[in-house]
Amino acid sequence: MFLVGIPISIVGLQGLWPCGLPHELTSHDIATRIRVDPKTIAAASTDFGRLTNEVPAAVFCPSSDRDIAELLQVAYESTQRITVAPRGHGHSVWGQASAAGGVVIDMRCLGGNATGDEEHSPLAAARISVSEGGAYVDAGGEQLWVEVLRETLRFGLAPRSWTDYLYLTVGGTLSNAGLSGQAFRHGPQISNVYELDVVTGQGELMTCSRDRNPDLFYAVLGGLGQFGIITRASIALEPAPERVRWVRLIYTDFAAFTEDQEFLISLDGRGAPGKKIMKREDKKYKGFDYVEGSVTLGHTPVSNWRSSFFSEDDSRRIASLAAQHGAIYCLEGSMYYGSSSAPTIEQDVERLLEDLSFVPGFVFTNDVNYVGFLNRVRKGELQLRSNGLWDVPHPWLNLFVPKTRILDFNVGVFRGILMRNHSVGPILVYPLNRNKWDERMSSVVPDEEVFFTVGLLRSSTPEDWRQLETQNEEILRFCETEGIEVKQYLPHQKGRADWVKHFGRKWGAFLERKKNYDPKAILSPGQGIFDSPVA
Ligand SMILES: Cc1cc2nc3c(=O)[nH]c(=O)nc-3n(C[C@H](O)[C@H](O)[C@H](O)COP(=O)(O)OP(=O)(O)OC[C@H]3O[C@@H](n4cnc5c(N)ncnc54)[C@H](O)[C@@H]3O)c2cc1C
Ligand SMILES: *[C@@H]1O[C@H](CO)[C@@H](O)[C@H](O)[C@H]1NC(C)=O
Ligand SMILES: *[C@@H]1O[C@H](CO)[C@@H](O)[C@H](O)[C@H]1NC(C)=O
Repeated sequence: MFLVGIPISIVGLQGLWPCGLPHELTSHDIATRIRVDPKTIAAASTDFGRLTNEVPAAVFCPSSDRDIAELLQVAYESTQRITVAPRGHGHSVWGQASAAGGVVIDMRCLGGNATGDEEHSPLAAARISVSEGGAYVDAGGEQLWVEVLRETLRFGLAPRSWTDYLYLTVGGTLSNAGLSGQAFRHGPQISNVYELDVVTGQGELMTCSRDRNPDLFYAVLGGLGQFGIITRASIALEPAPERVRWVRLIYTDFAAFTEDQEFLISLDGRGAPGKKIMKREDKKYKGFDYVEGSVTLGHTPVSNWRSSFFSEDDSRRIASLAAQHGAIYCLEGSMYYGSSSAPTIEQDVERLLEDLSFVPGFVFTNDVNYVGFLNRVRKGELQLRSNGLWDVPHPWLNLFVPKTRILDFNVGVFRGILMRNHSVGPILVYPLNRNKWDERMSSVVPDEEVFFTVGLLRSSTPEDWRQLETQNEEILRFCETEGIEVKQYLPHQKGRADWVKHFGRKWGAFLERKKNYDPKAILSPGQGIFDSPVA
């Protein structure tokens, strides 16, 4: 539609242009990439958590890294304060990818807004390329891990460290850590990156790695979006396993459960003995390639257990065990195999199970292909969606708990605070090896060699989430008074003092890096770390 010869879109842009944003942006080439329509604005105002509503002045839809760099240059040079938040898939829970009154960059525009479910999306695929020789893949920061998996599998390759859920972006998880059951062996996803392209808070496009601009490289990994926008990451690959033998073991004793988990993460992939080997006879093991676990509190309906793992009959037995003991623990392990190792897989798993202390008879086995295994959470998502239970508030709390205090944590939190008030959603508990993390990176973990990641992945109604948040605060207070030195993962802090405490000895470096790469504190304001320039 035209109005006296001027395309309506331009009139619309001027008419709708939020007075809060500077003129430099509207007059610049990249103005055509700006969206201010209510639907786009609304979508960028909230996230998976559904706990916040932070309305940006505009959404920016880039077609290249250059667009992003230009936007940041304009913001950096402007006399007016403009904040900019890259938004990956918006799967934060506390508005970390928001920019109230600022600009949200919809990173998914770079790959043509693919949904992730396309068998092949040319625009998305164009920004993923497997290196010659197959040692790594270069992926756009906006790529979903499921897209990276699909493209690398065409070469029989795959990244080795994952998240449980694959519809998260490379840039989003690398800004935190990226954890799943492989991290005990390969480290978090941030430990599996060779090189990054980053647009800094000054609008500079820089390449960084352990050798080239190393300070920026270490800053950005686990950096909560504070130092630059990741537009490309070069990620380590391995030959993709063909199949996965997947087991679930039920425990009624928390100490037995965590001891077995710790034993399993002490084994390395090729069957070399771990440090607890002497206690477990003089035996060589092939360990699991993936180790996780979960806690189930109190009475859960039989139907909650029913899955591809548990038959109707199994579900009844497990539910009755849970009712009897108040809480049960489920250790989950997987061993990868292919045609060459197929003949021994049965035996390899058996050997390992022989020395574990789960409740006799409570071992359940599944056998799936690699994609089916990695993409397991998607099934649950589709089910929840069809029941209207996906787009609901998620007052999650994720903590790292030092190994020496995990039993106290069990008593005070699982069997204490949480037992008193049940909530809906999985509770994940599994140990990690700190030697797979790089101290130079921005992420923070407890000081002990082994620590547990605990995820309270709760769902709630719009009315009840504040109660759950109160409970989260109670848990943090409990840890504080008991001297359990937990660290939050995907941290959500209330103010500067809490951030300083969160980063601990890393705070000084964090602040220094902020001065170097984003002195005007433009980037990812939704994290709530910096609300004004630092230099
Ligand atoms: C269902 C579900 C399952 C999950 N499972 C796991 C799991 O198993 N393991 C795990 O580790 N985490 C898990 N998470 C948490 C998840 O890793 C983080 O919330 C992550 O930030 C989400 O990625 P995203 O792309 O949606 O990021 P967003 O929420 O869009 O962004 C997160 C932060 O990173 C910044 N950011 C986004 N893109 C970039 C970029 N390209 N460069 C720099 N900064 C950027 C944003 O500004 C924001 O501050 C899960 C989350 C959900 C909702
Ligand atoms: C992608 O999404 C943005 C909204 O963030 C929209 O403005 C843009 O037109 C979409 N692009 C395509 C190719 O659909
Ligand atoms: C716990 O449950 C009781 C009632 O069952 C309720 O009054 C209380 O507010 C709940 N507390 C929390 C923290 O959810």
